[in-house]
Amino acid sequence: MGVIDRLSTASLRRVIDPDVDLPGKVGNGQVLPDELLAMHELAEFADLSSEQRARLSREEVASIVEAGLRFEAVLMAGFALDLVDHPDLTHPEVVYALHEIGEETRHSRLFSRLLGQLAPTAQNPLARFRPIEMRLIPHLIRRPATLDVLVLGGEEIPDLLQKRACEHPDTDPFLRQVNRYHRAEEARHLSFARAVLPQRLSSAGAFDRFLVRHVVPRIIWGDVRHDRTSRRLLHRRPSGVRHVEARQPHALEDRAPARGDTAHRDDAAALRGVPARPRPEGVAATRRRRPPRGPDTP
Ligand SMILES: [Fe+2]
Ligand SMILES: [Fe+2]
Repeated sequence: MGVIDRLSTASLRRVIDPDVDLPGKVGNGQVLPDELLAMHELAEFADLSSEQRARLSREEVASIVEAGLRFEAVLMAGFALDLVDHPDLTHPEVVYALHEIGEETRHSRLFSRLLGQLAPTAQNPLARFRPIEMRLIPHLIRRPATLDVLVLGGEEIPDLLQKRACEHPDTDPFLRQVNRYHRAEEARHLSFARAVLPQRLSSAGAFDRFLVRHVVPRIIWGDVRHDRTSRRLLHRRPSGVRHVEARQPHALEDRAPARGDTAHRDDAAALRGVPARPRPEGVAATRRRRPPRGPDTP
C-alpha cells in the first residue's frame, strides 16, 4: 500500500464531525495567554486592562480563524478543479483529495461556529484588496505545483501557531480542543502535499514553475511578515516556505536540520526534480553559506 492509500485509510479510520464531536464553545474571557498575543512585547501592552487583553485575544484568534477559513476555501476550489479534468478518477490521489476536501469542509464549519462565538468587531484593512485576490486565485489554483506549495505554506504556518497555543496551559480549553483536532487532520494534508510535490514539480509547465519560484514565496512569506503574531511565534521557517525559497535542491540538503526536523529532507527531495539553472560555483557557495533568514528578516 502506497503513502497516499495509507493516508486515505487514516482519514477513513475516524471521521470527526465537529458538530457532534466538538460541541463546546470558547469561554467569555481571554482565549490566548498574554505571551502569545501580538502586542505582548510592546510597551503599550502593559497599559491594557484585563478586558482589553481579552478583547484583543479574541480579535487575534478571530483574524487567524477567518484567514484559515478563506484559505481552506481556496484549497478546496483548487482540489475540486483538478478533479474536473483528471484523466483517472480512480487514482489514489483523487480518492485522497476527496478525503481532504471532506475534512476541510468540516474544519471550515467549525471555524465558522468559532468565529460566531468570538464575535470580532475589527475590520480587516486588507479586505479592500479582495477583488484583486479573486482575479488572481483562479490562475494560481489551476497550476498543480503552485497549489501544492501554497498548501504546504498555508497549512504549516497556522499549524505552528496552533501548536504553540495547544502547548500553553492558559489557552482557552475549547480553543485547545479545536487546535488539536485541526492539527491532527492537517498533518495528513501536509504529508499528502509533500508526497505529490516531486511529481507535480517535475511535470510542471514553465509558468507553474515561475509561480512556484518567484510568486508563491512572496505570498507566503509576505503574509507572515505582515502578521506580527506569526512572526513572533514561528521559531523556524515552515517547510512550505523553505520549499519555495530554495532555488536549487542541494541548497536545502546542505543546511543543518533543526532538531528533530526531517521536513527539510522531504523538501530537498521534492525539489530534486527541478532542473536548476547553472550558477557560477562562487555564487552557489555563497548562497549555501548564507544563514537561513529568520522570521524578522525584512
Ligand atoms: Fe483545515
Ligand atoms: Fe488542510
